[in-house]
Amino acid sequence: MPDFDTSVAHIARVYDYWLGGKDNFAADRAAGDQAIQAFPNIPLSARANRAYQARVVRFLAGEAGIRQFLDIGTGIPTANHTHQVAQSVAPECRVVYVDNDPVVLLHARALLASHPAGATDYVDADLRDPEKILDSAERLLDYRRPVAVMLMAILQHVDDEHDPYAIVAALMGAMPPGSYLALSHPASDIDAEAMAKMAIVLNQMMAEKVTFRDRAAVAGFFTDLELAEPGLVQASKWRPSSEMQAASPAALWAGVARKP
Ligand SMILES: C[S@@+](CC[C@H](N)C(=O)[O-])C[C@H]1O[C@@H](n2cnc3c(N)ncnc32)[C@H](O)[C@@H]1O
Repeated sequence: MPDFDTSVAHIARVYDYWLGGKDNFAADRAAGDQAIQAFPNIPLSARANRAYQARVVRFLAGEAGIRQFLDIGTGIPTANHTHQVAQSVAPECRVVYVDNDPVVLLHARALLASHPAGATDYVDADLRDPEKILDSAERLLDYRRPVAVMLMAILQHVDDEHDPYAIVAALMGAMPPGSYLALSHPASDIDAEAMAKMAIVLNQMMAEKVTFRDRAAVAGFFTDLELAEPGLVQASKWRPSSEMQAASPAALWAGVARKP
């Protein structure tokens, strides 16, 4: 069984707490609650992010015809995981999950329950080591065919010193034309004051530090890629399936782009 420290809050478990899950400890709930005090919409924002992710995977497996997914920063299993949504559209989809959290690793078996026509795999790796991710994911993915690289609510954990733009470029550089980059990123310029307060709380209480970014900084991840409609928008405004979804508070920038 992997070793993990329950005395310090970790983002996978704090996020699980905001989503109403059970895989969290007192330190995670304390950090989660203080974040809610700073930014009361964070649980709704987390839910809007999950709903966005499900819409994106449906778009990728449907309209975009993608059959291979590299989902980095998977999180603790909850509803609508990437392989569930993708394989409900096309059962032959192959999904590689990547996370560096030992609690996510503990739950990896739930992520490996693939439809027999497709396949899933789990890689225990850090986003700051894209070469390891690319090498390990090749067990399941064929880089001669298009891959959707998913970076949902994870790049805020890579500070500027670790050059998140170079990491994204390395991942996308390994993929053939027709591949996609899909991401969401907590915003520093939506609900700016509350988000700044929440960042301070999280950086005091959590093991993983956060860097929230503004729209222009998030747009930088899509350099040389072609953004699909409606472009880089608030997560709840990306092809919402109902007015209620569109109206949900979401302090995240979100976009999906194709490699030409
Ligand atoms: C906020 S959660 C998002 C989960 C899911 N992608 C979603 O959007 O619903 C961030 C996830 O990224 C993982 N993570 C954070 N930093 C990471 C890193 N450097 N390498 C790999 N995973 C990381 C955390 O363990 C956590 O599971």
